[in-house]
Amino acid sequence: MLHKTVKSTSPDIADPLRPDSQDDRDDYTTTPALGVELSVIIPTFNERANVLELIQRLQTTLVKYRWEVIFVDDDSPDETARLVREIAQCDIRVRCIQRIARRGLSSACTEGMLSSSAPYMAVIDGDLQHDETLLPKMLEVLKHDKADIVVGTRYSPRGGLGEWDRSRVAISRVATWLSRLVLKAELSDPMSGFFMLRREVFEHSVRSLSGIGYKILVDIIASSEHPPRLAEIPYDFRTRESGESKLDARSVWDYLMLLIDKFVGHIVPVRFISFCLIGGFGVIAHFVVLGFLFNEIGLGFTYSQATATFVAMAGNYALNNLLTYRDMRLRGWQWLRGWVSFTAACSIGALANVGVASYLFSMDQQWGLAALAGILVSTVWNYAVTMVYTWKIPQKA
Ligand code: GDD
Ligand code: MN
Repeated sequence: MLHKTVKSTSPDIADPLRPDSQDDRDDYTTTPALGVELSVIIPTFNERANVLELIQRLQTTLVKYRWEVIFVDDDSPDETARLVREIAQCDIRVRCIQRIARRGLSSACTEGMLSSSAPYMAVIDGDLQHDETLLPKMLEVLKHDKADIVVGTRYSPRGGLGEWDRSRVAISRVATWLSRLVLKAELSDPMSGFFMLRREVFEHSVRSLSGIGYKILVDIIASSEHPPRLAEIPYDFRTRESGESKLDARSVWDYLMLLIDKFVGHIVPVRFISFCLIGGFGVIAHFVVLGFLFNEIGLGFTYSQATATFVAMAGNYALNNLLTYRDMRLRGWQWLRGWVSFTAACSIGALANVGVASYLFSMDQQWGLAALAGILVSTVWNYAVTMVYTWKIPQKA
């Protein structure tokens, strides 16, 4: 069995710099396990005030185990990453991954897990709201092969939501209910950001992960080919002492996009769906502005229509930048450059729209179908061109 027997005690074999012959590699698999058995992944954004306390608590609670902690920090302005590195200089079990110009809790957790070699991995928030004293219990459940994923849950009779306000509790419950649509499993708190899993579960799902937004647990379970065995352990969600929550209205949008991606992502890219939904809002905005200028103010139709088009395009650009391309949002001068390129691309799209629709109309006089075809052509054009030229998403070879 792996890790149990020692084939040789030669000091050479323990030297990681010379595993060049097959014999040596065989010997590695039979040396006693000295590696980490549990990696604790902690996504952070502006958590400087909580880092030291959390590490000290992990040191206490995991004293019996071979563990490490991996902070994945998205270049926090409060220099969380620098502090983690300073602590890491005193404790080899502490590691830091600093991501530049990237944001997102889910993708941060995935990258943290990818950097681990441990057979068991946990994800826990960096703000002390999750109960870290549960970690040994979770690990024992996995080690005794009673489950593939153990989830810290806030909804069972013994778990609690801490001091969340009513609206946050309501949103969380609706989100939980929606998650049942994509999960092949019964879980009382799939929204939980506190869980531990076996490496194999992660490896089986990692290539299918959506990586959108905050709900990494939903993503992992929904991306697993075979439903993982789940166990739940209740805990009380603590109140945040330092810093603030990063969840906002956009996180709700991200969550919907995650669910849509799990449903139809293999057929249509979820960014395209987001782009179309925002385009739909743009049409409504167009009519509101047009109606106001033309009917209320009494401006001429051409001026009203031109202004409405301009406003709808700018609104669409701003919303797409905020939602569809949230993870690569343009700011400052880049925002202005993006706006100009978006307007240029969509203007060509509008010409294509009118051209295609007019041509089809001249063929068979079906105005409704002709208009729809025009809209479809311009939407696909706008999406494809702005993806490459406005947000500069690299195209796969
Ligand atoms: N790297 C990275 N990038 N970390 C992030 C980001 C990001 O964009 N956004 C948030 N974090 C980190 C925070 O610093 C914190 O350590 C953790 O992720 C959770 O973020 P909070 O902003 O504190 O979220 P919350 O308390 O409102 O909600 C959390 O708990 C819920 C209950 O378990 C999240 O984990 C939710 O997903 C979860 O449902
Ligand atoms: Mn929190």
